[in-house]
Amino acid sequence: MPASLSQRARHLPASAIRRLVPLAVEAKARGVHVHHLNIGQPDVWSPSIVIDAMHDYDERLIAYTMSRGVPAYVDVLREYYAAYGVALTADQINVTSGGSEALLFTLMAVLDPGDEILIPEPYYTNYTSFAQMAGGSVVPVTTTMDEGFRLPPVARIEAALTPKTRAILLCNPSNPTGVVYTRSEIESVAALCAKHDLWLVVDEVYREFVFEPGPETLRTALALEAYADRVVVVDSVSKRFSMCGARVGCVVSRHEGLMRALLRLSDARLSPPAVGQALAMHAYHAPESYLEQAVETYRARRDLAFAKLADIPGARAVLPGGAFYMIAKLPVADSLHFGSWLLTDFARDGETVMVAPAGGFYATPGLGDDEVRLAFVIDLEPLSRAMDLLAEALRVYPGPGK
Ligand SMILES: Cc1ncc(COP(=O)(O)O)c(C=O)c1O
Repeated sequence: MPASLSQRARHLPASAIRRLVPLAVEAKARGVHVHHLNIGQPDVWSPSIVIDAMHDYDERLIAYTMSRGVPAYVDVLREYYAAYGVALTADQINVTSGGSEALLFTLMAVLDPGDEILIPEPYYTNYTSFAQMAGGSVVPVTTTMDEGFRLPPVARIEAALTPKTRAILLCNPSNPTGVVYTRSEIESVAALCAKHDLWLVVDEVYREFVFEPGPETLRTALALEAYADRVVVVDSVSKRFSMCGARVGCVVSRHEGLMRALLRLSDARLSPPAVGQALAMHAYHAPESYLEQAVETYRARRDLAFAKLADIPGARAVLPGGAFYMIAKLPVADSLHFGSWLLTDFARDGETVMVAPAGGFYATPGLGDDEVRLAFVIDLEPLSRAMDLLAEALRVYPGPGK
């Protein structure tokens, strides 16, 4: 008998975003140019101050750093949060290998095996994996395009709580919907968490990418002082500074016990990336115009993609308020089939487009089958071309089984 795998390993979901990758590889091998609207890899350059620092990096030894992060980098993060009106001590910040490890450690610290975490769907698919790695599971609360993907009334969220619920997780601004929750929406979820003694985990890795900020914009849930003892924020430089490969994120919370638990988890894995932190330190000193331009770039692409989609018969979307994604409803019954077909059977002038079938962003089976997620991570011109290709593909798509 061969050695067997754990239940955990066997039940981890395959990445919905990456499942079409082999088909894209084959399409490229045939010489087809694939426009990638499927994955959240930003194309905006990292700040030049970071690239310069990378060239000037002259350590003779790449050593471990403190497991909770380089103190000087933690200080930079404290200054960054102070600018949002949030005063933090150094031990309220734990630096991690990306937002991914921040999420994993947070869920490991708050979920026991069998526990549940409530998340509005559609949601970033890896939440399911992280919850399962922590021994727990996701209970989805469905949000819909017809309701602008906004949070459902609190009573509907409350109805989904069970004795095993330990936390509610929000992504603000949201991947994959681009929805930006208002201060009052987040406050009402925080109040619900207080009522039922739950953690409120808020993934804010797209914090700055809000296209029409207003008085109701809450840049960080850490500003909800009344709920300071239950709010846990997940953060990262991956999207903010287009530094996905630096692998630097952090968890921020005012809850002492949680931060102690995170430190024990961090001690066990020894160190977040030393080089990544050395570079991330500089990113926060990039000129303000860096983020302003990035937001403007994503906003212009959002406008273009939204307008182009509106011209496609049978397609619709909700105008994303932030991040760089949009869920698009398409006149197809099986977006996984359509997404595959785009790569295997469709091309115009040697080009096609790759999308992320939205089913993978829902925990409820069947939802998202007529939706795809589009990411605005290519320039306006190729984006325009990609949207034209999508329109043309939908015109000629024969449907499944043909
Ligand atoms: C909502 C959200 N959270 C967290 C992450 C993790 O990013 P990283 O580990 O690169 O910080 C991503 C990456 O796409 C994301 O979209």
